[in-house]
Amino acid sequence: MRFIVAKDYMDLSRKAGGFIFSQISLNPNSVLGLATGSSPIGVYEQLIKWYELDELDFSNVKAVNLDEYVGLSNKDTQSYSHFMHENLFSKINIKNENTHIPNGKATNIDKECDDYESLICSLGGIDMQLLGIGQNGHIGFNEPNDIFNKHTHLTGLTESTIKANERFFDSYGDVPKSAISMGIKTIMAAKKIVLIASGESKSEIVYESFFGNITPKVPASVLQLHPDVTIIVDELAYKTIKLKSKT
Ligand code: F6R
Repeated sequence: MRFIVAKDYMDLSRKAGGFIFSQISLNPNSVLGLATGSSPIGVYEQLIKWYELDELDFSNVKAVNLDEYVGLSNKDTQSYSHFMHENLFSKINIKNENTHIPNGKATNIDKECDDYESLICSLGGIDMQLLGIGQNGHIGFNEPNDIFNKHTHLTGLTESTIKANERFFDSYGDVPKSAISMGIKTIMAAKKIVLIASGESKSEIVYESFFGNITPKVPASVLQLHPDVTIIVDELAYKTIKLKSKT
């Protein structure tokens, strides 16, 4: 596990973007696993800048997103599909047919999950997966549980996740209560993983996840077992680790 402490959010975004830059430069056909939420917005801004400067070419890149809310169509402005379009895909030269996000409006969710898993396999797996982390340790929407969910699956969202994501909706009641998410095995099969965490609200869980026990109660803790994972935190998210390493 590689641990990088960035000065601030901008520095973190540049550093995480740098990993994706290298990945695409070394393999222009890369399959990128992408995340939504507030954490990766700066990374996407950085990638867009490099694209505009003609330093990055996404024409052969494939993207698979971690998750999507159940019940929201890709036209819905709160959907992760819309988020990706607005924050990245519409601003770079990635081909539409090379971007993939689970369909939150699928009539047969089980089939959608199986198909998504098969799609990732058919692309040859994920070369580099970008992750954020929930305040309860979720990655993708793998919420704290008694077991690690393996494959892409339908999952209920915990109260803490619904509350954390309320800021993107008009009210708590509007936040979808379930999602389709890649499973832990899907994520762990990625060849490389880059996890980013910014701000004091992530500080405790970053410590627990990467310095505590490996348990499905803290889903991100499983990343301790991955052979090529880089954790990039800013100073604020590093606070608990810094404090505990002094005691
Ligand atoms: C998003 C995702 C989630 C977020 C996590 C952190 O696709 O899968 O695991 O990464 O909820 O969200 P932010 O970055 O908004 O704090």
